[in-house]
Amino acid sequence: MEDNMIHVHVENADGSVDTMECPTDMGLSLMEMLKASEYPVLATCGGMALCATCCVDVLEGLDKLGEISDDEYAMLDTLPDLLPNSRLACQLRLNPDMHGLKFKIHDPQEG
Ligand code: FES
Repeated sequence: MEDNMIHVHVENADGSVDTMECPTDMGLSLMEMLKASEYPVLATCGGMALCATCCVDVLEGLDKLGEISDDEYAMLDTLPDLLPNSRLACQLRLNPDMHGLKFKIHDPQEG
């Protein structure tokens, strides 16, 4: 694996796990990477921490992510089904510490 690449793991709804290879030197967010890989992430606000449609639930590696900013927390807090491990993928800038991160795309519970 090249120095500027990491692997993150995406758990699908059926329990299968995909591995995504992500560059860490392009300033991309995890949301941008998910969209580029055609995962069902709406990201309607374009990464401004204003829509929460890029929410992911972190399964492994939560402690390697940076602190939640006030903006991210404020947006997450609007989700009725927020989990303690939920984060906004648009606020997670890909970096070497995220190698091995495992998560699933947050599934909004209606009603
Ligand atoms: S893309 Fe809108 S909150 Fe992340």
